[in-house]
Amino acid sequence: MPFKIADDPETNYRELVRTAYNRCARDYAGQRSTTPEAELDLITKHLIPGSKVLDIGCGAGIPVARHFAETFSLTGIDISSNMIALAKKNVPTAKFVIADVMETEFPAGSFDAIVSFYAIFHIPRQEHQDLFRRFAQWLRPGGLLLFTVAKYDDGPGYTEDDFFGGTMYWSNFGPSTYKKFLTDTGFQIEQEGTVGGGSKSANAPEEVHPFFFAIKREGL
Ligand SMILES: C[S@@+](CC[C@H](N)C(=O)[O-])C[C@H]1O[C@@H](n2cnc3c(N)ncnc32)[C@H](O)[C@@H]1O
Repeated sequence: MPFKIADDPETNYRELVRTAYNRCARDYAGQRSTTPEAELDLITKHLIPGSKVLDIGCGAGIPVARHFAETFSLTGIDISSNMIALAKKNVPTAKFVIADVMETEFPAGSFDAIVSFYAIFHIPRQEHQDLFRRFAQWLRPGGLLLFTVAKYDDGPGYTEDDFFGGTMYWSNFGPSTYKKFLTDTGFQIEQEGTVGGGSKSANAPEEVHPFFFAIKREGL
């Protein structure tokens, strides 16, 4: 599918993302097929039962929120009300919030771990450094952060007109910029690699996404 540069000053790209996921929530969840077990274990092996985990852009709660909710206290947040409605059904033991992560506040140090799969690249990239400051604030010292970014190199935001039948928006830096954001906001990078797209999408059958696993430095 051809990408278009997302530079229309009249378009609210955040609203475009919200609308798009509200429209395709059921279809997206229906094709969400793979669990990134090895990457999720990077987090779970460090946590004790009952630890507090925040899932940013949790979607329909499967498989990531459900995986954590089996053992930990899971809070999921998502900008799409339809995604959250599905998540509440799929993972009844977790807490879910309909919200834009950039407009949400949590008390400082209130989570032991934060995860975010396939969501950060839907937020305009000029906000990403602030997003990492938020992660650092919400995690306790020694808290864990696991997230994916886009495989594409640095470039302007873009849209694609056939994401589950509608227009979707992405915006990202290259992985090296995220390394800088992590170190600048007080994280130590423990591991990086790639993970599959989590679905069997006809549009992107061999999708891979870079991931980072980092720890908030003690004493911050
Ligand atoms: C590709 S889906 C991934 C869902 C889930 N993490 C998974 O692994 O299946 C991206 C999700 O991020 C959510 N999202 C996008 N922008 C967001 C924002 N600013 N705040 C909160 N959630 C957002 C979308 O509504 C969507 O549910």
